Amino acid sequence: MTPQTGQLHMEKILKVFGPVTALKNATFSTRPGTVHALCGENGAGKSTLMKILSGVYQPDGGKIVMDDREIEFKNPGQALDAGISMLYQELDLAEDLTVYENIFLGNELISRIPLVVNRREMISRTAELCRQNGFDIQPTAMIKSLTLGQCQIVELLKALMRKAKIIVMDEPTSSLTESEAQRLFKIVKDLRTQGLTIIYISHRMEEVIQLADDISVLRDGEIVATGSLADMNISTIVKHMVGRELDDFFPPRHTKIGEIYFQAIGLKSNEGVQEVSFDVRRGEIVGMAGLVGAGRTEVARTIFGLQQLTAGHMKLDNKPVKIKHPSDAIKKGIALLTEDRKRSGLCTILPCSWNMTLPNYTQINMKYFLKLSKERQLCEKFGQKVSVKWSHPNAPANSLSGGNQQKILVGRWLMANSEFMIFDEPTRGIDIGAKKEIYHLLNELAAENKAILFISSELPELFGVCDRILVMRRGRLVGDLKTQETTPEKVMHLAAVEE
Ligand SMILES: Nc1ncnc2c1ncn2[C@@H]1O[C@H](COP(=O)(O)OP(=O)(O)OP(=O)(O)O)[C@@H](O)[C@H]1O
Ligand SMILES: [Mg+2]
Repeated sequence: MTPQTGQLHMEKILKVFGPVTALKNATFSTRPGTVHALCGENGAGKSTLMKILSGVYQPDGGKIVMDDREIEFKNPGQALDAGISMLYQELDLAEDLTVYENIFLGNELISRIPLVVNRREMISRTAELCRQNGFDIQPTAMIKSLTLGQCQIVELLKALMRKAKIIVMDEPTSSLTESEAQRLFKIVKDLRTQGLTIIYISHRMEEVIQLADDISVLRDGEIVATGSLADMNISTIVKHMVGRELDDFFPPRHTKIGEIYFQAIGLKSNEGVQEVSFDVRRGEIVGMAGLVGAGRTEVARTIFGLQQLTAGHMKLDNKPVKIKHPSDAIKKGIALLTEDRKRSGLCTILPCSWNMTLPNYTQINMKYFLKLSKERQLCEKFGQKVSVKWSHPNAPANSLSGGNQQKILVGRWLMANSEFMIFDEPTRGIDIGAKKEIYHLLNELAAENKAILFISSELPELFGVCDRILVMRRGRLVGDLKTQETTPEKVMHLAAVEE
């Protein structure tokens, strides 16, 4: 039965994963017709609490009450039936199916005579729902032809088709462009006016302030603060999250910038890189801005030998280098932290330690054996350096929270001790305290004379950390600006405006 209003109360929820207590006595309530932000550091237990609400995990203690009735979900299907939908941190749509097929997946409409799937009805209901909500999506479009922002809308349509009363969004904007994010905010506000509850998990404080009515903060598996957002500001929220004040968010930049170390000269590839030339000096942090799809990741992939160079060349320390494969790049002392940790970063079923030493095995190689004590020692050292929260370095990477998985990757490349380091969106999904740590780490690396290319979609961090900012648009470099001599508006303008 669908609940009437969706008044939710989760009481004293306990969840244990082996040695890790992910949630202890977490008590959390929401009001219908509100956006409720759920904040907390990486590994605080946000996703776990919401996976319990949506039937993915069963709690080890506590109860869930909705509209004064105690409920228990054995699987996500039961939660969906009760009006609870969750949009995951990593979207999971079937890429080779159409929009309407995804929306009705597992729940297809069947016509009685003849007994077949009623495609026409499914298409028309999808179109109707799009119309009601003002979504510009073709029901028969293939998922793989859609942008990430559109995919998210399909996930929402799925929830709305199931008559959701509570929609959980786990870091929904982490891979959206700015304009897609703004559209999503408008949709979220519309859904709230329709009386739905949106539980909104985000590490981006500006979004939380812009959107939420209420907020709850999780710390170490417990809700440590909850209430109306009007009674809190960013610094009180952060204080609840990390248990202390956060100052010096961006480190002061005063490293000495040295000689040119890396040079890209007219780089071209068939996959979105058109005559890109730039250099990075020793001790310099060079940012790369641009909208999603501008070709920044493609530049990084081309340098690292992941996609073919069709013209142009590169130099390291003024000597030409040929990189045909990532192994060449690693040998030459180039590191690439990829933006998509799930697809191209981690092997999630392998232990964290293996993930960290993968490109660094020469450091633990003893001809016929791997020196496991050295591996352990390295992982502990670099794990500590990025303050990763794991039960054990040998735990599988997928048992870590999203942000902690990202930290494993950062640790991997610190271990590699490369001279030219490319960081592609290193702070994606990372909490505010850990972001600060990453900024300080970049600064330390620069102080150690490394050359750093820092790709990011968040202008504040580019301006807070970089000496220079390169701007990409449609595969081309359209700006090379000294940070101190430019403004975020100028960078946005270059990134977005067509000549
Ligand atoms: N399937 C699992 N097996 C073992 N441990 C897990 C599992 N899922 C989560 N954990 C652990 O539970 C804790 C809470 O994780 P959770 O994913 O809920 O954090 P989170 O608040 O969503 O963090 P993030 O902001 O990084 O996404 C972490 O210590 C994590 O390692
Ligand atoms: Mg999470």
